[in-house]
Amino acid sequence: MISEVGDQKPEVRGQFTRRSPPLADVGGRSEVRLRLRSRLTVSSVEPSERFTILDSLFTMLPQAISPRLADVLSSAESICVLTGAGVSAESGVPTFRSTGGLWEKFSPEDLARFESFIRNPDLVWEWYNYRKKILSEVAPNEGHVALARMQDLVPDFTLVTQNVDGLHARAGSRNVVELHGNITRSYCIQCKLLAGEEEQATFERTPKCRTCGGLLRPDVVWFGELLPAGAFEKAMEAAHRCDVFLSVGTSGVVYPAASIPLAARSAGAYVVEINPEYTDLSPRMNETILGPSGKVLPHLVTILTQRHSHEST
Ligand code: OAD
Repeated sequence: MISEVGDQKPEVRGQFTRRSPPLADVGGRSEVRLRLRSRLTVSSVEPSERFTILDSLFTMLPQAISPRLADVLSSAESICVLTGAGVSAESGVPTFRSTGGLWEKFSPEDLARFESFIRNPDLVWEWYNYRKKILSEVAPNEGHVALARMQDLVPDFTLVTQNVDGLHARAGSRNVVELHGNITRSYCIQCKLLAGEEEQATFERTPKCRTCGGLLRPDVVWFGELLPAGAFEKAMEAAHRCDVFLSVGTSGVVYPAASIPLAARSAGAYVVEINPEYTDLSPRMNETILGPSGKVLPHLVTILTQRHSHEST
């Protein structure tokens, strides 16, 4: 039972190990399609209880970072980070699968498939406009800022995200690998042209292409669709060459993104998960830091900054 993961030491992995499903069709936009794995009960401990305890722990104790992680960070030449919805939670952006998350209230079947869009574009746009409105009212949090700072503290740094919210770029991260697209863009389903900002700036229903009159759709990846060309490949390359891999704020149930930390681990990286709860990925990590990313990541930046100052003197 996955619900027992919380009681296991990281070394006790066997019974919880689940293999990634095989990759889907090759060809077209990218080599892989987005797939959702069946939902699992994550923890037997109340998430809110855990979150509170660890939130205060990380406020007070930067030394809660393990000596092993501090050590590998101090010598890492290459770091790769994968983020999920949890990294934006402290900004006030709802996640998908946490308690009260978006998929509790809305159905991915109705909102995150191309067929659903064709069936009811108004409904899909209403949902995306609702999310865009939330994003227009929030700001990057300490976790986003910490990741933006990290890019200047290691020789090779790659930030890969499943998020479509653009908050990493707003925090100053450069060259973010966006596996699932970006909600702030849209394109025409007929002529494929990216829409101008004026066409999508309003929160109106179902915008149309100015060039051909076709329906515009959000430039995001829906279930069963191909990832943006090169994005997954770039992420995998970074995962294979990094010394430290951080899996931050993701439940690890959507593939192919969830296979990236596993690939890093197989290639020899030290793989760390940062999440207030254990996930399906936890048994496959070198360590899981149970805490909110906005509190944990700044501590990692402190370690990298100390090393950086040491190297430049
Ligand atoms: P999920 O909603 O599945 O998972 C969010 C994770 O963030 C959970 O494991 C939470 O425990 C964790 N979390 C919550 N608050 C956190 C905090 N303050 N700090 C760190 N972690 C926190 O989101 P994703 O894994 O990103 O795809 O979901 C993957 C994909 O599924 C999304 O890109 C989206 C969704 O369907 C599409 O819409 C195509």
